[in-house]
Amino acid sequence: MRTAFLHGLMAGAAAIGAMAPTLAATLPTMPANTAAQQDDWWKRAVIYELYPRSFADSDNDGIGDIKGVSAHLDYLADLGVDAVWMTPMFPSPQADFGYDVADYNDVAPQFGTIADMDALIAGGKDRGIKLILDFVINHSSDKHPWFLQSRSAKANPYRDFYIWRDGKPNGAPPNNWTSLFGGSAWTKDAATGQYYYHFFYPEQPDLNWRNMRVEKAMFDAAEWWLKRGVYGYRLDAVGTMFERADLKDNPPAPGKDAFGVPEQNRVNNTEQPEMHTELQRLRGQVIDRYPGRILIGETYVGTAPELTKFYGARNDEVQLPMFLSLIGIRPLTAAALRPKIEAVENNPVGGWPCFALNNHDQRRVSSRYDLPAGTTGDDMARITATLLLTLRGTPILYYGEELGMVNNDPKRVEDVQDIIGKKGWPKEKGRDGERTPMQWDASVNAGFNAGAKPWLPVSADYATRNVAAERADPKSVLNFYRTLIAERRGNPALAGEMTMVDRANPNVLSYVRSGGGRKVLTVLNFGGAASDLTLAQLGGGKFGRVIVQNRATMSSTGIHLAPLGVLVVEIG
Ligand code: GLC
Ligand code: MG
Repeated sequence: MRTAFLHGLMAGAAAIGAMAPTLAATLPTMPANTAAQQDDWWKRAVIYELYPRSFADSDNDGIGDIKGVSAHLDYLADLGVDAVWMTPMFPSPQADFGYDVADYNDVAPQFGTIADMDALIAGGKDRGIKLILDFVINHSSDKHPWFLQSRSAKANPYRDFYIWRDGKPNGAPPNNWTSLFGGSAWTKDAATGQYYYHFFYPEQPDLNWRNMRVEKAMFDAAEWWLKRGVYGYRLDAVGTMFERADLKDNPPAPGKDAFGVPEQNRVNNTEQPEMHTELQRLRGQVIDRYPGRILIGETYVGTAPELTKFYGARNDEVQLPMFLSLIGIRPLTAAALRPKIEAVENNPVGGWPCFALNNHDQRRVSSRYDLPAGTTGDDMARITATLLLTLRGTPILYYGEELGMVNNDPKRVEDVQDIIGKKGWPKEKGRDGERTPMQWDASVNAGFNAGAKPWLPVSADYATRNVAAERADPKSVLNFYRTLIAERRGNPALAGEMTMVDRANPNVLSYVRSGGGRKVLTVLNFGGAASDLTLAQLGGGKFGRVIVQNRATMSSTGIHLAPLGVLVVEIG
């Protein structure tokens, strides 16, 4: 189950609704960093996460590649995205499908070459699409030259690039910390007899960010791609960047994880305050030296106050810390969503919200929730799309989400590619299901390639659920997304303020966006039953043009919404 992946980093997520308004009083109010905010294209942007292994395979070897991405830039432009965040395409043993980087400044041969990257950056520029890369800051691959050096001898100059400690006198690991991916977070290395620390797989040793030479090497690596025209980074697993220096044991927590290991509260090896200082240095010393560049954070943190710390007290840290806690809500209700959204809306430093509902680590929305009777995954795709694209803030979409792609989960452990799925089967089936090939058309392998066996199987629904078929169908999920994205671009109300209305309603989430003298009302029925609302209860006014609608009907004074019903309408 995917929530297992989140548990470690999202402990206490339930507390997020209780965002303390008092935090505003405890943080100094300082003027915003105006120099850094001049170029704020990212506030109006729609960002598209793309997993290069699975997007398009131009050389027909079963694995997607950079040229495949370039070949589909026109599609991304037509969809209306402003930036692409591409997950790792760096040289890597692929123990964690690229999240084990062996060289931050090169491209894995299976994905292409640096020249292919330059062509992708240029092709994006021609179409107004900026490229953002993934920066895996917590760890490198165990095959990175730094680690090969580091493990070779205690006296090696790279020894302190990673975290090495003696075991306990009885030979046990230095402390009780466990890896999010199963077992102890320490692995004993034969060359020196010491243990090294890894929050994730043993193939992903944690970098030692207390070493200023690590900072220098990593800042240089980040700058290298900015010079080539990349627009910034999505920071991988930021919460794990620092550990308590005294290696204090973590307190136990109830139950066992999917790998059979007793749970613990990872208070001493996640969310350490030093990470904020370090991220502010990255922002100031690297990112802000290149106009318009941004940091996006993979910020799976427990509470809204913790999340909003990532903006920095002067908005001088991460521009877009992703608010990922909406993903964990079960069941998905208006009552659960509203306080979480409001907590981010009211963050004390005025940081710009950033929301994502799908990514390469999470079940796709169409397959994630129990569906109300009479509804389908496509209805769930439409209601979540509407939420994401009409909230105030920057949305991050995940490839295939715009088609309503479903999870295509492995049925047998032999078919699993993702190691956590092999280790945790059947409790944890891994993340293969949400990483299957993009569905382009009804031809062989959904047009992902020319017929070679793809690294993960194409979903069975591809003959009808694909870009070509959905583009031609006005009622498709794809055209629903296109309509909403186009509206965001053209309607100043969707760039303006947001006011929650009908706030006590436990089933229907409603809010008004206003700007440029225009107003847009969004009404979303997350309840299991039909619901009738009057326009007066939703803030009044008169219905204008309908922007999108699904399972909703209107009279002159009110709205009737079936379960998962959606209405986005201009208010006159
Ligand atoms: C992030 C990535 C995930 C990866 C992990 C370790 O959470 O999104 O895919 O496994 O970091 O790098
Ligand atoms: Mg290929």
